[in-house]
Amino acid sequence: MAAMAAIDVQDLVKRFGDKTVVDHVSLRVETGEISGFIGPNGSGKTTTMRMLCGLLSPDDGRGTVLGHDIRAAAQQVKPEIGYMTQAFSLYADLTIEENLAFVARLYGMPDPRRAVRETLSDLGLLHRRAQLAGTLSGGWKQRLALAASVMHKPRLLLLDEPTAGVDPLARREFWDEIHERAAEGLTVLVSTHYMDEAERCHSINLIVAGRLLAKGPVERVVQESGLVTRIVTGHDVRRLRAALSADPAVEQVAPFGRTLHVVGRDGAALDAAIRRLAPGAAVEAAETTLEDVFIHHMRRAGLSGAAARVA
Ligand SMILES: Nc1ncnc2c1ncn2[C@@H]1O[C@H](COP(=O)(O)OP(=O)(O)O)[C@@H](O)[C@H]1O
Ligand SMILES: [Mg+2]
Repeated sequence: MAAMAAIDVQDLVKRFGDKTVVDHVSLRVETGEISGFIGPNGSGKTTTMRMLCGLLSPDDGRGTVLGHDIRAAAQQVKPEIGYMTQAFSLYADLTIEENLAFVARLYGMPDPRRAVRETLSDLGLLHRRAQLAGTLSGGWKQRLALAASVMHKPRLLLLDEPTAGVDPLARREFWDEIHERAAEGLTVLVSTHYMDEAERCHSINLIVAGRLLAKGPVERVVQESGLVTRIVTGHDVRRLRAALSADPAVEQVAPFGRTLHVVGRDGAALDAAIRRLAPGAAVEAAETTLEDVFIHHMRRAGLSGAAARVA
């Protein structure tokens, strides 16, 4: 028998008023898998996560989370899930130790003192346990929040933009830790705006305006987009950019340092446009990135960056 997926939900729908913010989203995340959730602001990531952990009931759809029916058994699943919310969710004016003790009691852990001590020790924070959580650096806050969200040993961890505003080294370490835990069998669904983080997931789910537009391992999502990319180096990058962006074969053109990153769907048409508009320029084929695919789907959905930010 095939092992049951940790998350296996179909056609989840959530409406707020007359607005459908999650529109028939289906997700499948295998046990021990790290699955990324990417999409512009306001696309329904947080709402979907809240439905998965039983905080919000779906208006439609079905499926299971850790084997529990998402509609009938939302309460049973809660103790088996860790949920790290989007904003820093600990108390800034409690100490590190007090925060952990609070969470341990919240989950009704049998020996909260021991759990707190073990967690402090794992984090290497025993000597700093009396420090106010609000005085920690961004990276340490996130490590503490992560430790708090797994103290009750959940089987599924939902992380909502866990590394927003955290520096690259702290992000790297945070992700190393997530991989360690996944290797031990923890299943992780993590939303992020960072494409390098999406690339560290076993698979991703791209959601735009409530709709799931692509899913699978990053390489497959990129390949299935059908996009091709060229790097153009010329004399007058600014003029070239204007000319190329007006051409129908060109879907995206963006400066990267002294080069232009040019993306389209038809390689031959793209090359012809570049040769015509930039006759002396050097052209190289390049790998399409996940960011290119992300922008492609956002534009197709009629979103600009600014529109997505206020959504
Ligand atoms: N409780 C709520 N009541 C009304 N609208 C909401 C509520 N929660 C979220 N929304 C709306 O649902 C949409 C999706 O939000 P959200 O799930 O937070 O997106 P994301 O996490 O991808 O940024 C947004 O337009 C947001 O304003
Ligand atoms: Mg969100």
